[in-house]
Amino acid sequence: MPEAHGSTAASAGTATVAGTSLLDVQGLTSSYGPVRALDGVTLSAQAGRITAVLGANGAGKTTLLRTISGLVRPDAGKVVLDGEDITKAPVEAMVGKGMAHVPEGRGVIAELTVDENLRVGSLFRGKVPQSEFDRVYDLFPRIAERRDNHAHTLSGGERQMLVIGRALLAQPRILLLDEPSLGLAPRIVAQIFGLLRQLVDAEGLSVLLVEQNARSALSVADVGVVLNLGKVVVTDDARTLMADEGLRHAYLGF
Ligand SMILES: Nc1ncnc2c1ncn2[C@@H]1O[C@H](COP(=O)(O)OP(=O)(O)OP(=O)(O)O)[C@@H](O)[C@H]1O
Ligand SMILES: [Mg+2]
Repeated sequence: MPEAHGSTAASAGTATVAGTSLLDVQGLTSSYGPVRALDGVTLSAQAGRITAVLGANGAGKTTLLRTISGLVRPDAGKVVLDGEDITKAPVEAMVGKGMAHVPEGRGVIAELTVDENLRVGSLFRGKVPQSEFDRVYDLFPRIAERRDNHAHTLSGGERQMLVIGRALLAQPRILLLDEPSLGLAPRIVAQIFGLLRQLVDAEGLSVLLVEQNARSALSVADVGVVLNLGKVVVTDDARTLMADEGLRHAYLGF
Protein backbone atom coordinates (compact mmCIF):
# COMPACT_ATOMS: atom_id res chain seq x y z
CA MET A 1 0.00 0.00 0.00
CA PRO A 2 1.45 3.41 -0.86
CA GLU A 3 2.10 5.65 2.14
CA ALA A 4 0.15 8.64 1.04
CA HIS A 5 -2.56 9.45 -1.35
CA GLY A 6 -2.08 13.19 -1.44
CA SER A 7 -4.55 15.95 -1.00
CA THR A 8 -7.68 14.29 -2.34
CA ALA A 9 -7.94 11.79 0.47
CA ALA A 10 -6.96 14.34 3.06
CA SER A 11 -9.64 16.79 2.00
CA ALA A 12 -12.30 14.27 1.06
CA GLY A 13 -11.72 12.41 4.34
CA THR A 14 -13.89 14.93 6.08
CA ALA A 15 -16.50 15.16 3.34
CA THR A 16 -20.05 15.02 4.55
CA VAL A 17 -22.48 13.27 2.28
CA ALA A 18 -26.03 14.55 2.30
CA GLY A 19 -28.81 12.31 3.64
CA THR A 20 -30.47 11.09 6.83
CA SER A 21 -28.27 8.69 8.70
CA LEU A 22 -29.81 5.47 9.97
CA LEU A 23 -26.68 3.87 11.39
CA ASP A 24 -23.88 5.91 12.95
CA VAL A 25 -20.55 4.50 13.96
CA GLN A 26 -18.49 6.86 16.08
CA GLY A 27 -14.82 6.37 16.91
CA LEU A 28 -15.12 2.59 16.87
CA THR A 29 -11.98 0.78 18.07
CA SER A 30 -11.86 -3.03 18.26
CA SER A 31 -9.06 -5.48 18.94
CA TYR A 32 -8.33 -9.18 18.96
CA GLY A 33 -5.94 -9.43 21.89
CA PRO A 34 -2.97 -7.26 20.93
CA VAL A 35 -4.15 -6.83 17.31
CA ARG A 36 -6.01 -3.57 16.79
CA ALA A 37 -8.36 -4.26 13.89
CA LEU A 38 -10.39 -1.02 13.97
CA ASP A 39 -8.92 2.23 15.08
CA GLY A 40 -11.34 5.09 15.67
CA VAL A 41 -13.69 4.42 12.75
CA THR A 42 -16.45 6.97 12.19
CA LEU A 43 -18.98 6.52 9.40
CA SER A 44 -22.67 6.54 8.77
CA ALA A 45 -25.07 4.57 6.62
CA GLN A 46 -27.93 6.64 5.33
CA ALA A 47 -31.54 5.61 5.12
CA GLY A 48 -32.52 4.28 1.71
CA ARG A 49 -28.95 4.24 0.42
CA ILE A 50 -26.19 1.75 -0.27
CA THR A 51 -23.02 2.59 1.63
CA ALA A 52 -20.00 0.60 0.50
CA VAL A 53 -17.06 0.01 2.84
CA LEU A 54 -14.03 -0.83 0.76
CA GLY A 55 -10.53 -1.94 1.58
CA ALA A 56 -7.88 -4.58 1.05
CA ASN A 57 -7.36 -7.80 2.99
CA GLY A 58 -7.11 -7.11 6.69
CA ALA A 59 -8.41 -3.54 6.42
CA GLY A 60 -10.94 -4.28 9.18
CA LYS A 61 -14.12 -4.64 7.09
CA THR A 62 -15.36 -7.84 8.70
CA THR A 63 -14.45 -6.58 12.16
CA LEU A 64 -16.47 -3.45 11.49
CA LEU A 65 -19.60 -5.48 10.69
CA ARG A 66 -18.99 -7.85 13.60
CA THR A 67 -18.63 -4.93 15.98
CA ILE A 68 -21.75 -3.20 14.66
CA SER A 69 -23.80 -6.34 15.13
CA GLY A 70 -22.45 -7.07 18.62
CA LEU A 71 -20.32 -10.13 17.82
CA VAL A 72 -17.17 -8.22 18.76
CA ARG A 73 -17.21 -5.78 21.68
CA PRO A 74 -15.37 -2.55 20.95
CA ASP A 75 -12.63 -1.10 23.17
CA ALA A 76 -14.02 2.35 22.46
CA GLY A 77 -16.62 4.14 20.40
CA LYS A 78 -20.33 3.89 19.77
CA VAL A 79 -22.82 2.28 17.44
CA VAL A 80 -26.06 4.23 17.11
CA LEU A 81 -29.06 2.90 15.18
CA ASP A 82 -31.76 5.43 14.42
CA GLY A 83 -30.75 7.51 17.44
CA GLU A 84 -30.52 4.55 19.85
CA ASP A 85 -27.13 3.63 21.31
CA ILE A 86 -26.87 -0.11 20.61
CA THR A 87 -23.15 -0.51 21.38
CA LYS A 88 -23.83 -2.84 24.29
CA ALA A 89 -27.00 -4.50 22.98
CA PRO A 90 -26.81 -8.30 22.84
CA VAL A 91 -26.35 -9.80 19.40
CA GLU A 92 -29.75 -11.56 19.59
CA ALA A 93 -31.46 -8.19 20.01
CA MET A 94 -30.14 -6.77 16.74
CA VAL A 95 -32.70 -8.40 14.43
CA GLY A 96 -35.51 -6.97 16.56
CA LYS A 97 -33.94 -3.55 16.18
CA GLY A 98 -34.03 -3.88 12.39
CA MET A 99 -30.52 -5.01 11.57
CA ALA A 100 -29.67 -8.18 9.62
CA HIS A 101 -26.05 -9.27 9.19
CA VAL A 102 -25.07 -11.59 6.35
CA PRO A 103 -21.58 -12.75 7.35
CA GLU A 104 -18.78 -13.67 4.97
CA GLY A 105 -18.76 -17.30 3.96
CA ARG A 106 -22.42 -17.82 2.96
CA GLY A 107 -23.30 -20.18 5.81
CA VAL A 108 -26.19 -22.48 5.01
CA ILE A 109 -27.20 -25.84 6.46
CA ALA A 110 -25.92 -28.16 3.77
CA GLU A 111 -28.18 -31.13 4.54
CA LEU A 112 -31.37 -29.09 4.45
CA THR A 113 -33.18 -27.98 1.33
CA VAL A 114 -33.29 -24.38 0.18
CA ASP A 115 -36.85 -24.04 1.49
CA GLU A 116 -35.92 -25.59 4.85
CA ASN A 117 -32.97 -23.21 5.15
CA LEU A 118 -35.31 -20.26 4.68
CA ARG A 119 -37.77 -21.64 7.21
CA VAL A 120 -35.12 -22.47 9.82
CA GLY A 121 -33.62 -19.02 9.32
CA SER A 122 -36.93 -17.36 10.14
CA LEU A 123 -37.93 -19.56 13.13
CA PHE A 124 -37.05 -16.78 15.57
CA ARG A 125 -39.97 -14.79 14.14
CA GLY A 126 -42.56 -17.44 14.97
CA LYS A 127 -45.11 -17.97 12.22
CA VAL A 128 -44.02 -16.16 9.07
CA PRO A 129 -46.74 -15.77 6.42
CA GLN A 130 -46.20 -17.80 3.24
CA SER A 131 -46.38 -14.56 1.27
CA GLU A 132 -43.01 -13.53 2.70
CA PHE A 133 -41.37 -16.74 1.48
CA ASP A 134 -43.07 -16.20 -1.89
CA ARG A 135 -41.58 -12.72 -2.01
CA VAL A 136 -38.07 -14.11 -1.53
CA TYR A 137 -38.72 -16.62 -4.30
CA ASP A 138 -40.00 -13.83 -6.54
CA LEU A 139 -36.87 -11.80 -5.88
CA PHE A 140 -34.63 -14.80 -6.61
CA PRO A 141 -36.23 -17.00 -9.28
CA ARG A 142 -33.10 -19.17 -9.36
CA ILE A 143 -33.63 -20.00 -5.69
CA ALA A 144 -37.29 -20.73 -6.34
CA GLU A 145 -36.31 -23.27 -8.99
CA ARG A 146 -34.03 -24.97 -6.50
CA ARG A 147 -36.27 -24.79 -3.43
CA ASP A 148 -36.39 -28.57 -2.95
CA ASN A 149 -32.67 -29.15 -3.58
CA HIS A 150 -30.23 -29.66 -0.75
CA ALA A 151 -28.22 -26.53 -0.02
CA HIS A 152 -24.92 -28.37 -0.59
CA THR A 153 -25.82 -28.66 -4.29
CA LEU A 154 -26.06 -24.86 -4.75
CA SER A 155 -23.48 -22.80 -6.62
CA GLY A 156 -21.75 -19.94 -4.81
CA GLY A 157 -24.09 -17.41 -6.38
CA GLU A 158 -27.18 -19.40 -5.41
CA ARG A 159 -25.91 -19.72 -1.85
CA GLN A 160 -25.37 -15.99 -1.70
CA MET A 161 -28.92 -15.41 -2.91
CA LEU A 162 -30.21 -17.86 -0.30
CA VAL A 163 -28.43 -16.12 2.59
CA ILE A 164 -29.60 -12.70 1.42
CA GLY A 165 -33.15 -14.04 1.05
CA ARG A 166 -32.97 -15.52 4.54
CA ALA A 167 -31.79 -12.17 5.92
CA LEU A 168 -34.67 -10.36 4.20
CA LEU A 169 -37.12 -12.60 6.07
CA ALA A 170 -36.01 -10.75 9.20
CA GLN A 171 -37.59 -7.64 7.61
CA PRO A 172 -34.50 -5.52 8.25
CA ARG A 173 -34.30 -1.78 7.91
CA ILE A 174 -30.59 -2.16 7.34
CA LEU A 175 -28.78 -5.08 5.80
CA LEU A 176 -25.08 -5.60 6.58
CA LEU A 177 -23.41 -7.63 3.83
CA ASP A 178 -19.89 -9.01 4.10
CA GLU A 179 -18.21 -9.59 0.70
CA PRO A 180 -21.22 -10.99 -1.15
CA SER A 181 -19.30 -10.90 -4.45
CA LEU A 182 -16.34 -12.99 -3.32
CA GLY A 183 -15.51 -15.67 -5.89
CA LEU A 184 -18.60 -15.07 -8.01
CA ALA A 185 -18.70 -14.50 -11.78
CA PRO A 186 -19.20 -10.84 -12.76
CA ARG A 187 -22.60 -11.65 -14.27
CA ILE A 188 -23.84 -13.08 -10.96
CA VAL A 189 -22.39 -10.17 -9.00
CA ALA A 190 -24.22 -7.74 -11.31
CA GLN A 191 -27.45 -9.67 -10.77
CA ILE A 192 -27.14 -9.64 -6.97
CA PHE A 193 -26.09 -5.99 -6.80
CA GLY A 194 -28.88 -5.03 -9.20
CA LEU A 195 -31.36 -6.66 -6.89
CA LEU A 196 -29.98 -4.79 -3.88
CA ARG A 197 -30.36 -1.55 -5.80
CA GLN A 198 -33.96 -2.46 -6.56
CA LEU A 199 -34.72 -3.20 -2.89
CA VAL A 200 -33.16 0.08 -1.84
CA ASP A 201 -34.91 2.17 -4.49
CA ALA A 202 -38.31 0.49 -4.38
CA GLU A 203 -38.61 -0.42 -0.72
CA GLY A 204 -36.33 1.99 1.10
CA LEU A 205 -34.01 -0.72 2.43
CA SER A 206 -30.63 0.56 3.66
CA VAL A 207 -27.48 -1.41 2.95
CA LEU A 208 -24.00 -1.39 4.43
CA LEU A 209 -21.99 -3.34 1.87
CA VAL A 210 -18.47 -4.47 2.73
CA GLU A 211 -16.42 -5.34 -0.34
CA GLN A 212 -12.90 -5.89 -1.57
CA ASN A 213 -14.36 -5.74 -5.08
CA ALA A 214 -14.40 -1.96 -5.09
CA ARG A 215 -15.21 -1.47 -8.74
CA SER A 216 -18.47 -3.43 -8.59
CA ALA A 217 -19.38 -2.06 -5.17
CA LEU A 218 -18.87 1.57 -6.21
CA SER A 219 -20.90 1.03 -9.34
CA VAL A 220 -23.96 0.13 -7.24
CA ALA A 221 -23.34 2.20 -4.09
CA ASP A 222 -24.36 5.77 -3.30
CA VAL A 223 -21.56 6.44 -0.84
CA GLY A 224 -18.16 4.84 -0.39
CA VAL A 225 -15.95 4.62 2.68
CA VAL A 226 -12.37 3.46 2.20
CA LEU A 227 -10.75 1.63 5.12
CA ASN A 228 -7.04 0.96 5.42
CA LEU A 229 -5.40 -0.74 8.40
CA GLY A 230 -8.44 -0.14 10.57
CA LYS A 231 -8.84 3.56 9.78
CA VAL A 232 -11.09 5.50 7.44
CA VAL A 233 -9.02 7.02 4.64
CA VAL A 234 -11.83 8.78 2.79
CA THR A 235 -15.62 8.99 2.68
CA ASP A 236 -17.36 10.40 -0.36
CA ASP A 237 -20.01 10.02 -2.93
CA ALA A 238 -19.44 6.74 -4.84
CA ARG A 239 -19.19 8.52 -8.18
CA THR A 240 -16.51 10.87 -6.90
CA LEU A 241 -14.47 7.97 -5.53
CA MET A 242 -14.85 6.06 -8.80
CA ALA A 243 -13.47 9.05 -10.70
CA ASP A 244 -10.45 9.42 -8.41
CA GLU A 245 -7.74 7.49 -10.20
CA GLY A 246 -5.09 8.14 -7.55
CA LEU A 247 -7.32 6.80 -4.81
CA ARG A 248 -8.33 3.80 -6.88
CA HIS A 249 -4.72 2.88 -7.55
CA ALA A 250 -3.61 3.52 -3.98
CA TYR A 251 -6.35 1.72 -2.08
CA LEU A 252 -8.91 0.07 -4.28
CA GLY A 253 -6.85 -2.13 -6.55
CA PHE A 254 -8.23 -1.00 -9.91
N1 LIG B 1 -10.16 -13.75 15.12
C1 LIG B 1 -9.09 -12.97 14.95
N2 LIG B 1 -8.03 -13.06 15.78
C2 LIG B 1 -6.94 -12.26 15.63
N3 LIG B 1 -6.82 -11.33 14.68
C3 LIG B 1 -7.83 -11.19 13.82
C4 LIG B 1 -9.02 -12.01 13.90
N4 LIG B 1 -9.87 -11.64 12.90
C5 LIG B 1 -9.24 -10.65 12.24
N5 LIG B 1 -8.03 -10.38 12.78
C6 LIG B 1 -7.08 -9.35 12.33
O1 LIG B 1 -7.76 -8.10 12.37
C7 LIG B 1 -7.44 -7.31 11.23
C8 LIG B 1 -8.70 -6.98 10.46
O2 LIG B 1 -9.27 -8.17 9.96
P1 LIG B 1 -10.68 -8.23 9.23
O3 LIG B 1 -11.00 -9.66 9.06
O4 LIG B 1 -11.64 -7.36 9.93
O5 LIG B 1 -10.31 -7.57 7.82
P2 LIG B 1 -11.09 -7.61 6.45
O6 LIG B 1 -10.98 -6.24 5.89
O7 LIG B 1 -12.43 -8.19 6.61
O8 LIG B 1 -10.18 -8.58 5.56
P3 LIG B 1 -10.59 -9.61 4.39
O9 LIG B 1 -10.68 -8.79 3.15
O10 LIG B 1 -9.44 -10.56 4.36
O11 LIG B 1 -11.89 -10.26 4.75
C9 LIG B 1 -6.43 -8.11 10.44
O12 LIG B 1 -5.14 -7.69 10.86
C10 LIG B 1 -6.68 -9.53 10.88
O13 LIG B 1 -5.51 -10.32 10.78
MG1 LIG C 1 -13.40 -9.80 5.78
